[in-house]
Amino acid sequence: MPPSDTTTFVPSELEGIDRYKLLTGLIVPRPIGWVGTLGPDNRRNLAPFSFFTVVAGTPPTVLFSPGRRTGTRKDTLANVIASREFTISIVDESLAEAMNLTSGEYPPDVDEFAVANLTARPGDVVAAPLVVEAPASLECHVTHVVELADPPTNTVVFGEVVRVHVRSDLLDGGRIDPIGLRAVGRMAGNAYTRIADGYFEMERPD
Ligand SMILES: Cc1cc2nc3c(=O)[nH]c(=O)nc-3n(C[C@H](O)[C@H](O)[C@H](O)COP(=O)(O)O)c2cc1C
Repeated sequence: MPPSDTTTFVPSELEGIDRYKLLTGLIVPRPIGWVGTLGPDNRRNLAPFSFFTVVAGTPPTVLFSPGRRTGTRKDTLANVIASREFTISIVDESLAEAMNLTSGEYPPDVDEFAVANLTARPGDVVAAPLVVEAPASLECHVTHVVELADPPTNTVVFGEVVRVHVRSDLLDGGRIDPIGLRAVGRMAGNAYTRIADGYFEMERPD
């Protein structure tokens, strides 16, 4: 039984925006997947997604979840469905403003790499572009595309990670330096957090 000063929400009784704000306010910080794709005619596309995480090491799997824009697919979703591949670049503090710029609702023919003055290069094994300035990036093959509702609202895209690129100074004996990475986390709305500021460690029980 929850304590009497707890407020309980029934998600199905909330307006969509309130449901979204409640969940994204509580589940924090969220990692940001900066998703690079190629569109028709090899148009480059780049956009951030914070409905994003790693879900398995074997097989190495990440997922992200684009919502619908007034009922239509976002460019990223249309591109991954057609090309079956994408890249994820990691956003560090120096790239936060550029990441924010790439989240604008631009028409499909706009190259967000150019908008944010970023350098693109194709992956080694995928044609989708990654952010050269990023401290790390992943190349992914699409494994599953799951619609969450009918008619669709959000679509979860699973990808198998087939290459991982990490700036060498961030590697310490093959492990990632968590402070040096300076990854940015997303809070609710326009709020972000610097992972490095709140970092602490705990030994797990045997
Ligand atoms: C930090 C951040 C996280 C975001 N996360 C998501 C997300 O998880 N799902 C989503 O649909 N949109 C998300 N957005 C909005 C998209 O980035 C935005 O709609 C973008 O224009 C989509 O681009 P596209 O049409 O080129 O795919 C996020 C924006 C920001 C700034």
